[in-house]
Formats: sequence, C-alpha cells, structure tokens
Amino acid sequence: MNLPTEVRYRRYEDWTEDEKNKIAENKAKSPWLASYHLEPKTGLLNDPNGFSYFDGKFQLFYQNWPFGAAHGLKQWVHTESSDLIHFKETGITLEPDHAHDSHGAYSGSAYEIDDKLFLFYTGNVRDENWVRNPLQVGAWMDKDGHIEKFDKVLIQQPQDITEHFRDPQIFNYQGQFYAIVGAQNLDKKGFIKLYKATNNDVNNWEFVGNLEFGGTGSEYMIECPNLVFVDGQPVLLYSPQGLDKSELNYDNIYPNTYKICQSFDTNSAQLVGASPIHNLDYGFEAYATQGFNAPDGKVYTISWIGLPDVDYPTDQYDYQGAMSLVKELSIRDGKLYQYPVPAMKDLRLGAKTLSNLSSSQNTYELEVTVPANDKSQLILFSDEQLNGLKITIDTIQGQLVVDRSSAGQQYAIDFGRKRQCDIEKTETKLNIFVDKSIFEIFVNDGEKVFTGRVFPSQDQSGIQIQEGQISGSYFELNV
Ligand code: FRU
Repeated sequence: MNLPTEVRYRRYEDWTEDEKNKIAENKAKSPWLASYHLEPKTGLLNDPNGFSYFDGKFQLFYQNWPFGAAHGLKQWVHTESSDLIHFKETGITLEPDHAHDSHGAYSGSAYEIDDKLFLFYTGNVRDENWVRNPLQVGAWMDKDGHIEKFDKVLIQQPQDITEHFRDPQIFNYQGQFYAIVGAQNLDKKGFIKLYKATNNDVNNWEFVGNLEFGGTGSEYMIECPNLVFVDGQPVLLYSPQGLDKSELNYDNIYPNTYKICQSFDTNSAQLVGASPIHNLDYGFEAYATQGFNAPDGKVYTISWIGLPDVDYPTDQYDYQGAMSLVKELSIRDGKLYQYPVPAMKDLRLGAKTLSNLSSSQNTYELEVTVPANDKSQLILFSDEQLNGLKITIDTIQGQLVVDRSSAGQQYAIDFGRKRQCDIEKTETKLNIFVDKSIFEIFVNDGEKVFTGRVFPSQDQSGIQIQEGQISGSYFELNV
C-alpha cells in the first residue's frame, strides 16, 4: 500500500493508543487470518530475522512496520518456539530508537554467545537530505529478553559500494565467526561481502573479501544472503534483485535462489565448485529465506511469504505478510530438498481418503500421489463453479502447473497467474498445506516447492478432483 513518507516514518511514540487500536481492530476483521502460520500482530511482516537457538528454545524475529500494510520504519518483533511449529510472540522488540538505526532496524541474524544472543543487523540511517547511510550494528539480548545495543558501529559502509549494504548473517565455520553482507557496487551490481570476527570477538570485524560464488553479477542487488552447511556442504541462499532472466527463469518480481557448493575457502573468500543458480521456490511468493545451522545438526529455514513492492488483498485490513512453515534442508543425489519439520505430522487429525469435498475450513494437509503416465488436476479453494487454485500434475509431459487465475481475489497479475516447473515423468507425490489464504506445495518430499497465497471468498473452500488418477489422503489439522 502506498502511504506518504511522513506516515511511514512517523516515530513510534507519536502514534496514539486510539490509532493503534483501530489498526488492530481492522486486522481482526480479516476473513483470511491464518491458523497455523505466523502473521504480524499488526502491520506488515517481511523478512525472517535472527532465526537461531538460544536459552533452550528456537528464536525467530520478523521485520515489521506495525502501523499498516506498508514498508515504513522497521523494527524486529521477537517470537519463540519449542517445536518449530508454534511461534509465540513474547512482546520483545528491537525498535529503531538509536542514532545508528534511526530509520529502521533492518534485517539480520542472531547467534548464541556466552549465555546471550548476539543480534547482528543493519541500522538504516538517513540524514536530513534523506541520504542513506547503512550501518552494520549489533545488540545483546539476555535470557530475560532485555536488549542492549552496541554503541559502536560494527561495519561501516565501505568505499566501493552504494547505499545498498545490508542484512548481515553471522555463522560459525570451524569455530570462527564470519558474516556475509549483501551489497551493491558502484557499477550497480549486486555482490556479497565476507567478514570475520577478529580474534573471534563479535565487537571487531575485519574484511576478508568479496565472496566468490560463481555469480555473473547480472543482479543489481543481493538481499539476505545466507550461508548454511548441510551435512558440511555449503549452500548459499540469496535474493538477487534484477537477476537477468537469461540466467534463471523466474516470474516473481524478485527471485529467491540458491547454489550448492563443494567447499568454502575462507582465505580466498571463495565458495568452491558452486552449482548453477536454482529457484528455491517455484510459487508466487517466497522471499528473503533465512536459514541457520542448529545445535541439533540440522539446517532449518523459513521464508517470508510475500514480496517487496507488491500490494496484497489484506492491505485493506492494514496488515500484510506471513511466515512459511519451517523447512529442514537436506541434499540427496546432489539436489537440495526442503521439507517441513517432522513434528508437522503430529498436527494430523486422522486421514480421510481424498475425494471431492464441497467445503472445508481451508485448513488441512493433502498427501497425494499421481502415477506415471497420467495427467491429474486438483482444484483447491474451489467454489461450485469450479473456480479455484488449479494444480495440474502431468507425468506424461513431466510438468507441474499451479494456476491461480480463477482463485479468489486477483493481485500481482503483472507477474502472471501461473507458475510451473518440470518434474520427472514418474510417480509424483505432493504434500500440500493449506491455511486459509496460504498454500505450500512440496513435490516429492521437498525436491521442488511452490509457496503462494490465494484470497478466497467464503464459499471458496472446496477440493475437487478434476481429472486423472490422483489418489491420497486428506488430513484436518489440529491447530
Ligand atoms: C528484504 C529487505 C532487506 C532489508 C529489509 C527491510 O526484503 O529489503 O534487504 O533489510 O527488507 O525491511
């Protein structure tokens, strides 16, 4: 939603209780509130931030402008979880209240160090002429949720980059803390800078080099870079804005991508043996995915179900954006798999055989199989006229198409109403999670993923099998 800059950057303390109550009341009227996905308490949710493990719990913050469905003066909002499914807001926030983050506490990461959680983030600072000075700054959060910001700027804006320098990710590689930061160089090309903590002290960071990951530099900015190690193998997750479509076929305004690499050479700042670039998600919206290596040895990721510069039907209710399910990464036969954590299965309330259903609560999981040599079509969020989200699984041609052109309220149509990907011409399994206005489709245990939104009217909650040999189960979920 377009709102004037004065509104978006109005100081938090200047909003009256009355104004805040109206915003919350408007959101409560939405017919699309999710039942098992995290949504903002109020306003706009964008990137996941500070996804980590600390004090015996999983920690997750989200980027938020609390006063409406727009990108304004951002803060971090804290949530915690013991099972990676239920995330509870704690009331703790990292607000833009310091000279080093005066125009927004932008995205970043977190890591437990000596009984405290270190938050590494971008302080967005603008001067009186609205010139931006991005600073990489830090804070400690203790076990009582008390946050203390560093007075020192941890990484200043280097000479060779523009005002686009943000989203530090801290990670521990072989006992040493490193950080990568997204940046734009003076030729307006996106790249990633690698730093290391001098003597492993997060108060002091030294530049190692520009990360070499086999990119072509066709993008104009790289947002939210994340390096994770899946069974020791480096995987770079990133959001390259303006990436040339000859390099990767994508339809969304900005793609979210990954590369699997063979090794990480810290001396030469190189990800050795990087694969070609791949889409992390084939759906309509998944962005700024954040991952971390958890103490249990697993790599967990979570994505913003939303995109920058897109208006959503929820804007009329003064809120926007949701988090995806948490996904666990694995690599099998050289391919990256993303799949919801095993505990998601505990939400299943007993299986029913998949069959036509004229209405559901739009809160369920489907586990379906399409045999080889078949073309099946399912319609979700369906009404009596068979409008809805059409999912066509064609194992003859080897193609999966998700078409939302007749599903609910239309939006972002400039970017197309269909998404598709190639699949093997063999039996294909889909796990589909539906939550009011959210769908997440996992193909063959997460080899490909389609995430997106549909904003149905009240009578659009059916499930229809249109054609083909598709079979499987329907699970209501205990949410
Ligand atoms: C990505 C992003 C980040 C930035 C944050 C601001 O969606 O633009 O690069 O830190 O959002 O909210």
